[in-house]
Amino acid sequence: MHYKAVIFDLDGVLVFTDKYHYRAWKKLAEKLSIEFTEKDNDRLRGVSRAESLEIILEKYHGKPISEDKKREYLEEKNDTYRQFLGDMNRDDVAKEIRDTLSKLRKDGYRLAIGSSSKNTAYILERTELTDAFDAVADGTMITRSKPDPEVFLKAAELLLEKPSDCLVVEDADAGVTAAHAAGMDVAAIGAATKSQRADYSLEVFSDLLGILER
Ligand code: BG6
Ligand code: MG
Repeated sequence: MHYKAVIFDLDGVLVFTDKYHYRAWKKLAEKLSIEFTEKDNDRLRGVSRAESLEIILEKYHGKPISEDKKREYLEEKNDTYRQFLGDMNRDDVAKEIRDTLSKLRKDGYRLAIGSSSKNTAYILERTELTDAFDAVADGTMITRSKPDPEVFLKAAELLLEKPSDCLVVEDADAGVTAAHAAGMDVAAIGAATKSQRADYSLEVFSDLLGILER
């Protein structure tokens, strides 16, 4: 067995909260008369909330926005986003994903979350996924978000595993960069498969079993 542990990104990999991020940012962007498309949203994958706002504001042409006002916008976006999260439940995690996670654990892999999100604990709780993982590293524990490797190194540390023994699963280009910077191999899924920079490409989540059970 080459890898001992698997570190999963959360948003866009295990749960499709990326669509809720998009809707919540879109609401704020419209208020500020900023154009914001799903393609723009792809740039926000894996990136922290505050950095995401700066990316959105690249297309803002109104009067200068104070730091206080930015904090207010960040709160407003998170409030809208949390309303969507509040409606999530166990059924928001596909059976294929739950089954794959159980199988990997049964096969002896240690599993962790490595997410930039400060809402990680809430999402895991809403979807009843908390117990599926041996460790959780998230946006509340780091000072630099992806593409920095900090969150993945934190996950490996919590698992007590060497980075080279960990495989990361990511939907974000920033996450692929972060994993490589952490000295970890990456399996890309969804949006991250386009750039072909990852070590493996997953068409569906359960393709992971093919990689790990070789
Ligand atoms: C990442 C998402 O997982 O978490 C980003 O891909 C998001 O889009 C980031 O900005 C931070 O999330 P949150 O929940 O702390 O606003
Ligand atoms: Mg993601």
